[in-house]
Amino acid sequence: MLVDGGGCLKRTVTDGDLRRLLLAGAALDDPLSRLPACEPKTIGPDAGAEQALALMDRHRVDHIPQVDDAGCPIGLLLRRNLCSPILLSTPHLGQGERGFVDDAFRTNWIAPLGPNVDAFEAELAEHVGVGHAAALSSGTAAIHLALDLLGVGPGDEVFCSSLTFVATANPVLYLGARPIFIDSEPDTWNMSVNALERAFEDALRRGRMPKAVVVVNLYGQSADMEPILALCNRHDVPVVEDAAESLGATYRGRASGTLGRIGIYSFNGNKIITTSGGGMLVSDDGELVARARFLSTQGREPAPWYLHRHMAYNYRMSNILAGVGRGQLQVLEERVTARRRIFERYRTLLSDIPGLGWMPEANFGRSTRWLSVCVLEPGVSPVRPTGFIAALARQNIEARHVWNPMHRQPLFEGCQYFPYEEGRSFSDEALENGVCLPSGSNLEEAQIERVCAVIRDALSHR
Ligand SMILES: Cc1ncc(COP(=O)(O)O)c(C=O)c1O
Repeated sequence: MLVDGGGCLKRTVTDGDLRRLLLAGAALDDPLSRLPACEPKTIGPDAGAEQALALMDRHRVDHIPQVDDAGCPIGLLLRRNLCSPILLSTPHLGQGERGFVDDAFRTNWIAPLGPNVDAFEAELAEHVGVGHAAALSSGTAAIHLALDLLGVGPGDEVFCSSLTFVATANPVLYLGARPIFIDSEPDTWNMSVNALERAFEDALRRGRMPKAVVVVNLYGQSADMEPILALCNRHDVPVVEDAAESLGATYRGRASGTLGRIGIYSFNGNKIITTSGGGMLVSDDGELVARARFLSTQGREPAPWYLHRHMAYNYRMSNILAGVGRGQLQVLEERVTARRRIFERYRTLLSDIPGLGWMPEANFGRSTRWLSVCVLEPGVSPVRPTGFIAALARQNIEARHVWNPMHRQPLFEGCQYFPYEEGRSFSDEALENGVCLPSGSNLEEAQIERVCAVIRDALSHR
């Protein structure tokens, strides 16, 4: 790109332009002013990939300079990049899924029960080292059932991590209860023991204990479960571990999701392994899990006719999807290794960029790095998350803000919130500075390098 003294784009110069110039008799050290004037085809700062591709088609070119409002170049959009988006976290199939799904078709087990469902439950329970598991239609359904099983009902209070996806807290509302949100801590980005302690003190003062505590394991990392469980046990309040994002992670040698009274996993399409949509409820308490199965299949009593005593749900996983899950479970360890490797590639390739930090990995276990999360240090990094995400989007790379904490959501307006320290809310800081980068286990090295090149560019401007 040829710019004038003010940095404004004058024109682009391609290898074809140089070849034509040389054929017309120019020497290699001749100035580029010998090129015929040519109004550059450019695109504005807010244009998306589709617009850029349409412009390239119209002008029969494979690249378009992107300029700011003053006409100064801010990037070069290439057709080959725009035609191959890099997404945040996409499904990654293995070799085994098809066989299990074919079996389901061959044997006509395509209902929300069958051999794949039973086997998926047994195999997952064995993999994570828990007594029992119930395969369900989603992680949200599993949280809903978990809270129902613990007796949460209208007017009850439930302590819940604030830094999470809304699916963690919605089931509290389904049951007519009220969430009280607990902040995260900087070392783990998960539930702060400090904040939880203050919430319990407040509950004692008010003479109203929560019915349950929902602890989230964020972005593939376990919360610091020992002190959290000690506190909850002291107050005799059961813990539901929302391990939707942390299947495959460990905490002091145990599998994330197996430490609370009940744990839940999600197999949504963006998770480390997927059934396209699905979830699992796990517990060492066999009676609770049997009850979860009962409630997930309309609460049908064992009788020769249709007999119902309890309101229940239609939350069971289908035998087809359980087949996908069985195949996915076979490659879970590979997927963890791949996601951790992607995180390390980002960290290594971008280690020299000032003001660029990373979500920490706590020393008590293994994070899966389900998502690679970077942190743009305020005052050092030249862009904030919104501008950074937009810069990546211009190159057809999907990045996302960190979860917008629940205590900030209009849906939960008026709900109590206990920050990490009086006057310091860590989850607000995580939102203000954090960005989730493409993290799918099927990302190729060239794609990681492409993301890094765009990040480097975005963080070196201005
Ligand atoms: C922390 C957390 N909890 C719960 C869920 C809900 O899982 P599902 O989408 O399977 O309902 C998700 C993901 O979607 C999640 O990220």
